[in-house]
Amino acid sequence: MRTIAQISDLHFGRHDPVVCEALLASLNDQSPNLVAISGDLTQRARTREFIAARRFLDHIAAPKLIVPGNHDIPLYNVAGRLLAPLAKYRRFVAPAGLISSLVADDEIAVLGLSTVRRLTGKHGRLSPAQIAHIRHVFEAVSPRAVKVLVTHHPLGATSGDASLTLAGRSALALQAISVVGVHLLLSGHYHRTSHGVIEAEMTPDTSVLIVHAGTAMSTRTRQEPNSYNLIRIDGTRMSVTVMEWLAPDFRATATAAYALIDGHWQTA
Ligand SMILES: [Fe+2]
Ligand SMILES: [Fe+2]
Repeated sequence: MRTIAQISDLHFGRHDPVVCEALLASLNDQSPNLVAISGDLTQRARTREFIAARRFLDHIAAPKLIVPGNHDIPLYNVAGRLLAPLAKYRRFVAPAGLISSLVADDEIAVLGLSTVRRLTGKHGRLSPAQIAHIRHVFEAVSPRAVKVLVTHHPLGATSGDASLTLAGRSALALQAISVVGVHLLLSGHYHRTSHGVIEAEMTPDTSVLIVHAGTAMSTRTRQEPNSYNLIRIDGTRMSVTVMEWLAPDFRATATAAYALIDGHWQTA
């Protein structure tokens, strides 16, 4: 069994330091196999925010896979945004974890991709090369591994949720995800927790679970408390536990179980 802790939208610079300390304690207490961090580590990509984010990352004991969010590139520094949008991110965050890369063993294969674009607005986009990369990478992993893709911007919404604007080229990405049999999509950006199955745009023989994370410590919450997700993967069984900030610590408030039956995720 593998446990992934998904934390998202930390927004250092507009974060709650008490929640931050409790999050660190909770993560290290859970000792997951991997901490997947789905973007927006900072509020405005300021140097001091990246320094605080790096200090936080350095205190997480577990391996980390990190992708950037739209808040991790400069907003007001136009030259910086156009010429080197991820310069600070690469300087401060890259040494602390794996970026746009793969963590794989016999049980899980987790790929992170940046959906951040300097010109295409806050909803992000994948490039055709990244979509080809999804197929290339997952075709080469262990056939037994549960395949997981981490992005900041959602590539899909759970059935019945039409409120999210998906990243650009999501439909093309979902085709590749379907062909190569990705099991699980992790994303953030909306500061809202939800999870479930997406069936739309999938081929008849596949289905994909999607897990959206809330904001782990930002004070900009959207009608729900700070939270992170604990995802336990055991072959064809998976569970998603939402860990909510209930002062003075994070506590499990809900767990949903899924099972892959005849190629389709179903609630177990
Ligand atoms: Fe965010
Ligand atoms: Fe975002």
